[in-house]
Amino acid sequence: MFYRPETKRHGLPHDPFKACVAPRPIGWLTTMSPEGIVNLAPYSFFNAVADDPHMVMFASNGRESYGPKDTLRNIEATGEFVYNVATWDLREKMNRTSAPVAPDVDEMALAGLTPVPSEIVKPPRVAESPIHLECVYHQTIELPSNDPDARNAICLGRVVGIHISEDVLTDGLVDLKKFKPIARLGYHEFTVVETIFKMIRPRA
Ligand SMILES: Cc1cc2nc3c(=O)[nH]c(=O)nc-3n(C[C@H](O)[C@H](O)[C@H](O)COP(=O)(O)O)c2cc1C
Repeated sequence: MFYRPETKRHGLPHDPFKACVAPRPIGWLTTMSPEGIVNLAPYSFFNAVADDPHMVMFASNGRESYGPKDTLRNIEATGEFVYNVATWDLREKMNRTSAPVAPDVDEMALAGLTPVPSEIVKPPRVAESPIHLECVYHQTIELPSNDPDARNAICLGRVVGIHISEDVLTDGLVDLKKFKPIARLGYHEFTVVETIFKMIRPRA
């Protein structure tokens, strides 16, 4: 099949786009408003995009009933955020933090998660998550939007601090089987890391 996405005429029961680019890591992002209210939300248009220095990105799409999304607004106002890895054990709590609640609601408390102070940035880390990246704001790139009332934008951050729980290390390597990160597929589907294989890049 072939269709032009602007026509939306895919003829399928649901838009297949997100299932075509999957799995996508979940950036479970903590931010803090200038007033000090903690915010936690999942963003699956998320990835690591550079290694030296370490850079990450996420895309904020559309708006919620309360207006622009808090995560990007907080980052642009304060310049800081924290990535928490979303794991199989935390899947329900991660999902709860995506609820469209007003900016004055602390989703970390709402989901029954424990804040733990970061080393460098103000937003706290999710204690229950085994890996955290402390990030400082680098740049926003505006994207086209088909809704004049909704902003689409990519936010880039530089990683300035990395926390890894000793519990998820095996012989000095991060052992994903110990915490089973989850990732987003299309529709309402997710996946979990359970199978790992190795391949060595060929030499020229
Ligand atoms: C697994 C998952 C992934 C999501 N990914 C995105 C995303 O990449 N971009 C986005 O704008 N919203 C995404 N959302 C929706 C936001 O989490 C939701 O709009 C949330 O209320 C935003 O919270 P905030 O206003 O506190 O930032 C996702 C939701 C879930 C459950």
